[in-house]
Amino acid sequence: GGAAMAKEKHKDILNVSHRGASGHAPEHTLVSYDMGEKMHGDYIEVDLQMTKDGQLIAMHDEKVDRTTDGTGYVKDMALSEVKALDAGSWFNEAYPAYANEKYEGLQVPTLEEVFQKFGKNNSYYIETKSPNIYPGMEKELLRLVNKYDINKDKLLVQSFSAESLKIMHELDPSIKLVQLLSYRSNATITNEEIAEIKEYAMGVGPNHTYLNEEYIQKVVNNGLEIHPYTVNDKERMQQLIDWGVTGMFTNFPDLLHEVKKGK
Ligand code: G3P
Ligand code: CA
Repeated sequence: GGAAMAKEKHKDILNVSHRGASGHAPEHTLVSYDMGEKMHGDYIEVDLQMTKDGQLIAMHDEKVDRTTDGTGYVKDMALSEVKALDAGSWFNEAYPAYANEKYEGLQVPTLEEVFQKFGKNNSYYIETKSPNIYPGMEKELLRLVNKYDINKDKLLVQSFSAESLKIMHELDPSIKLVQLLSYRSNATITNEEIAEIKEYAMGVGPNHTYLNEEYIQKVVNNGLEIHPYTVNDKERMQQLIDWGVTGMFTNFPDLLHEVKKGK
């Protein structure tokens, strides 16, 4: 019946730890990823930037300013310079309610370090950020996925850039891809847009703010997954689940876990 169906629905919702459990700990640190796992996140979300010497690192912004004690563009810095930065203390200052001394002095991880720590059978949801300023980042990502023998069934690669996703698809058609989307007002999508995305991707990741049930149903009924970002309150999580999303990004995987459990 309906109740049983609703329960089944809850079970499959992918809980994506957005930048790790970034509501609780400094985003894109190994500590934050670890907390995401402990809080029942199914996927570790990793945003990628690339250093001057071609190393992929886990960072959201093109500049190190917001999430470290340094300044400047990642593309202009060597990995050794990025590694010298403190990627945790800013969080304690910005979020005193969640502050913890152990966050002080945390480093920016490389993608290699993430793979080394969390292993080949973990589930990674990796975003190519600013691919236009990092030519070759898709190839380097794929090289590391292969070097660490990452389980491709559990890997998702996401981007706002359709071009970057198409490059990934060309390099290795077995990699599952998600097209990120950003709406500024009431979300709509045409059959043509859905068909085009389906040529390379298995899902879409829209911002949740302007979604409605009709949009979600249309996408799902056309065979695409839908993982909205970034959902941090339980009522909205429940509403999106009721509307039919197949997963979502959250800074609080603990809260999504509770919603999935019906708590
Ligand atoms: O990747 C999903 C979501 O994180 C996209 O927005 O800016 O937080 O990377 P952003
Ligand atoms: Ca992201």
